[in-house]
Amino acid sequence: MTPAPSGALGALEASGLGQAMRQWLWLYPAVEIVHLVGIGLLFGSIVVFDLRLLGFSRRIPIRRLASHVLPWSAGSFLLIVPSGLLMFTAHATDFIDSEVFVLKMLLIMAAGVNAALFHTITFRTADVWDSEEMRKLPPPPSARVAGGLSLAIWISVIACGRLLAYF
Ligand code: HEM
Repeated sequence: MTPAPSGALGALEASGLGQAMRQWLWLYPAVEIVHLVGIGLLFGSIVVFDLRLLGFSRRIPIRRLASHVLPWSAGSFLLIVPSGLLMFTAHATDFIDSEVFVLKMLLIMAAGVNAALFHTITFRTADVWDSEEMRKLPPPPSARVAGGLSLAIWISVIACGRLLAYF
């Protein structure tokens, strides 16, 4: 008997949506372009924030930069997640068996945990460590670690996404 998860995923793959994603010539590439535009928006916005956490462009107050760029990072998921799920329906059983796909999902979760820890702990005290006086010094180690980790994780997610076509 087929185990339930792959049965459910097989049904997803066999659905009208899954079939359309495989059979309509332009659908998969169009959805993939939406995925890539979302990734451009996510990485483009998050990279400037992470570089600021690492200590670059310290003349820009961190809270001001956050309110400018982070809504774009959050909004990018409206493009990335639905398009990712649509592509997933096309070959659900293959993707779930792919170690690269599983790693990509784990990395996305790790990026979420890193961001959540930063926002609930380090960012709360930004008024202190990012005051005009303190801004002459580099941000605290916890901020630099969060920024460095975020950059490394998102680059790895992008790499895994690209590698899905090969492994
Ligand atoms: C959140 C950040 C994400 C990033 C940075 C990302 C990155 C990428 C990249 C770079 C590609 C390759 C595109 C190409 O080669 O043209 C890709 C493809 C793909 N992504 Fe994502 N992705 C993300 C989220 C997701 C999510 C949430 C899903 C949901 C299941 C997903 C599912 C897929 C699938 C199925 C492919 C197609 C692989 C193929 O056809 O070869 N991605 N992703």
